[in-house]
Amino acid sequence: MSTTRTFIMPNRPLTWLITGCSSGFGLTLTRFAQSHGHHVIATSRNPSKTPDLVVEVKSKGGDWLTLDVDSPQDCTDAISHIESSGKYVDVLVNNAGYSIFAAVEQLTEEEVNQGSGAGDEGEAIWGDSKYE
Ligand SMILES: NC(=O)c1ccc[n+]([C@@H]2O[C@H](COP(=O)([O-])OP(=O)(O)OC[C@H]3O[C@@H](n4cnc5c(N)ncnc54)[C@H](OP(=O)(O)O)[C@@H]3O)[C@@H](O)[C@H]2O)c1
Repeated sequence: MSTTRTFIMPNRPLTWLITGCSSGFGLTLTRFAQSHGHHVIATSRNPSKTPDLVVEVKSKGGDWLTLDVDSPQDCTDAISHIESSGKYVDVLVNNAGYSIFAAVEQLTEEEVNQGSGAGDEGEAIWGDSKYE
């Protein structure tokens, strides 16, 4: 027996928290969400490396936070900043990270731990590398 599920999109602008917005999917999704009237809190490790993007996102009503998802302190600071601003995150896009293309036997212990999330509190919240 199959069940049909319906996703109901709230009829209002949503607040999106998107990690890893300095390039790739994160940047594309940030632009897409803003172009549809949503509020985006974009993040990257070094916003000073992409000043034009920060200006672009802020000029459309968004925010840009410094966030290294490997840093528990950065994660705590980002959450505190968002909470103190009074905003509620409707959509979390856990995009920041990188892919490792290798046989497991070729990876270092550090790379294995990053992929599994073991031994790093930040990864337990935000994710990090992915095995493919
Ligand atoms: N492209 C693909 O074919 C593909 C396929 C499957 C999955 N994915 C996944 O999709 C995500 C985005 O991929 P993409 O191709 O768009 O990659 P990308 O262009 O390299 O972008 C990755 C983003 O993640 C950020 N980032 C990397 N490590 C970070 C860290 N420790 N803390 C915070 N930010 C970090 C980078 O920002 P800063 O360096 O500026 O901080 C960058 O903005 C990744 O998680 C990737 O594993 C991609």
